[in-house]
Amino acid sequence: MMHSIYIGLNNPGQEQKLSDILQNRYPNYEIVLSTQLKNDLQLKHCQGAIIWKNDPNHLLNMPNLKLIQCMGAGVDFIDWSLPQYRSVPVCRFVDPSLSVQLAQYVIGYILSDKLEFDGYRALQDEKNWQQREPRAGSKVLILGLGAIGSRIASLLQQMDFQIYSWSTTLKGTELIHEMTTQDELSAVLPDIDYVVNLLPSTPKTTNFINESFLLDMKADACVINVGRGESLDTEALISFLDQKKIRKAILDVFKQEPLPSSDKLWEHPSVLLTPHIAAQSSLEAVASVFSRNLEKITCGKAPEFQVDPDKGY
Ligand code: GLV
Repeated sequence: MMHSIYIGLNNPGQEQKLSDILQNRYPNYEIVLSTQLKNDLQLKHCQGAIIWKNDPNHLLNMPNLKLIQCMGAGVDFIDWSLPQYRSVPVCRFVDPSLSVQLAQYVIGYILSDKLEFDGYRALQDEKNWQQREPRAGSKVLILGLGAIGSRIASLLQQMDFQIYSWSTTLKGTELIHEMTTQDELSAVLPDIDYVVNLLPSTPKTTNFINESFLLDMKADACVINVGRGESLDTEALISFLDQKKIRKAILDVFKQEPLPSSDKLWEHPSVLLTPHIAAQSSLEAVASVFSRNLEKITCGKAPEFQVDPDKGY
């Protein structure tokens, strides 16, 4: 029987690059690209699909499909009411390369903030030799202690940061003050210096960081959002920043992407924003994870990071 692999991404250039990588790994397979699809018959022999913000209808015509591998960690683009996502295992892409990039982004900002590099650059312009006290805060709250959150936590711990986490289940991670309830969170928030959001976007996490959350925080604290824009109430955040009740927000993800040029966040003096670049999936790593998962499924084993449709992550 003929074998094929389907690639359906939101970027034709990336489809082509991923196709070249996969063709090397699977010389006898046909690689079917969504952007070059000639007719639906090509989909019939697809055993695996790699997708990202794709056309979901193509998946309906793959009767031999065994695996849907997403190209990123957050799978909120998937409409779980569609049957094609329920009949085959759907896996998130979680890989050390992704966790390390996110850790570098988060820790990079926290360190430069603590060391006040921006402030020293301004003093340099004035030729002002002023030795300041280092910024004191070392308490970091991580929202979402999954594979990525745990990696960030352990790297920060090595630099003597104190880690708090909030997630739906306790992970029993050593030296982390883990929380699962709103009450515990409210009790701890007044002490936190940096909140790092990594929550998946689900109905339960919409506007998780909202007015009452921000009210519990101290005015000197920073919010770092590298999860999803939906988890943060931007209006509430802007109002807190305006009133100097939150010191700074570092934002890589937004409710609407690209962020419209009319959005107030662009010009806000207390916001540092980046265009969703905190972690970019390596195509080589995506191909490896896909191959490993397809192999596992073929041998009757469970694939890695299979999504529970009812939870959405
Ligand atoms: C990026 O946002 C991802 O979900 O991997």
